Amino acid sequence: MEKYLVKGGVPLRGEVSVSGAKNAALAVLPAALMSGDVCTINNVPKVEDIHVLLQAIQHLGVKITYENDGHTVIMDCRKIEKVTVDYEHISKIRASYYLLGALLGAKNYSKVALPGGCNIGARPIDQHIKGFKALGAEIEIEHGMIEVKTDKLVGDTIYLDSPSVGATINIMMAACMAEGTTYIENPAKEPHIVDVANFLNSMGAKVKGAGTHIIKIQGVSKMHGSEYTIIPDMIEAGTYMVAAAITKGNVLVRNLIPKHMDAITAKLIEMGARVDVYGDSIRVSYEKDYSSIRVKTLPYPGFPTDMQPQFVALMALVNGVSVMTESIFESRFSYTSELGRMGADIKVEGNTAIINGVSNFTGAQVRATDLRAGAALVLAGLAGKGDTLISNIYNIDRGYECLEDKISALGGWIKRIDTEKKPELKVVS
Ligand code: EPZ
Repeated sequence: MEKYLVKGGVPLRGEVSVSGAKNAALAVLPAALMSGDVCTINNVPKVEDIHVLLQAIQHLGVKITYENDGHTVIMDCRKIEKVTVDYEHISKIRASYYLLGALLGAKNYSKVALPGGCNIGARPIDQHIKGFKALGAEIEIEHGMIEVKTDKLVGDTIYLDSPSVGATINIMMAACMAEGTTYIENPAKEPHIVDVANFLNSMGAKVKGAGTHIIKIQGVSKMHGSEYTIIPDMIEAGTYMVAAAITKGNVLVRNLIPKHMDAITAKLIEMGARVDVYGDSIRVSYEKDYSSIRVKTLPYPGFPTDMQPQFVALMALVNGVSVMTESIFESRFSYTSELGRMGADIKVEGNTAIINGVSNFTGAQVRATDLRAGAALVLAGLAGKGDTLISNIYNIDRGYECLEDKISALGGWIKRIDTEKKPELKVVS
């Protein structure tokens, strides 16, 4: 099993380019099934979750070829032989549930293994089911599988109890092929919702209002192939912005959409980091010691929950008491005990973390409990004294493309090592 060995203490300097958005690609690729044609998707991030999803899609009979070093995926969806997605494919990634909405829209039928919960919360899909039922689908959940079927989807008005990203996208996809008009009220507004809607419209759908408080979808009977380029990953971009701040470095994060970064930029500036915003890039540089802040995660355009662990790692090294409140997922602080092993002083009470700043982290052996927690531990290791050994890095591979290459190019010391050989950790007294 592979681990990351990180040596801390080097301010990151230079430029890093952001890859395509994982959470957009995880929906755009299944949506292509609705074309019944050939789709070319550019700027697809080469991360493990995408790899697993494409394997699941291939099993449905879609021919997939790659160009541009694997960042362009060409999907021939003219012959979909299967509409059932087995457990072994979905158990690894939750987002395979997008195959439910896409196949329901395209084939009036789909059977997919129920996505389980994960370390950050129970993550039910009741809002997805509510939407599918409103569109006229019958739902059956048995033997860990969810089956959705209908003779005909018919548009309706669906109010989401919480602005769920997954439910908004799944309902939006299915509604594209429903008879009549669908309204999604209180939808999620994340940039990847807008990206998926733009892709659906490029295939002939009629989606309006994505990114606003109400989405209107006029059903169409047929869609067609398309070529589409996915937006940059705002969470990967945010992770490198925090990497610059936590190592007191100076990094230009390129190929991003500054508007998407507003909440992250605002909190870095509030802490005292220097943030310079350009057309498609942002420079983060250290000028003076940071001050403590309060942050609360919220649906977009609020502060993203997927940046919570990375910011807590930074806040843990800031003089004074900072507070992080997690309002999206009920158990997204499990990684704080790993930061505690590196010397952080964090007290979690319910959905709030009280963070007493310490002067430095010391390297330690820690475990990546999930994707973003793993990224936070890499940042903590880069800022810490001595060596940090991070296990379960498969969690990090799920959502970061070439992380160690990008960090090394910024002067950071990080190596992917094979744990069979026990590395000698340099312990700083
Ligand atoms: C998406 O998850 C992202 N995943 C998550 O990113 C992200 O944290 C989350 O949105 C919030 O921004 C993908 O896009 C693949 P939700 P999703 O439905 O769609 C509750 C990462 O690190 N809820 O918006 O599963 C739910 O339990 C990942 O890249 C219901 O109660 O999130 C949660 O508390 C981690 N019923 C809240 O809503 C439902 O039917 C938000 O969930 C659906 C959701």
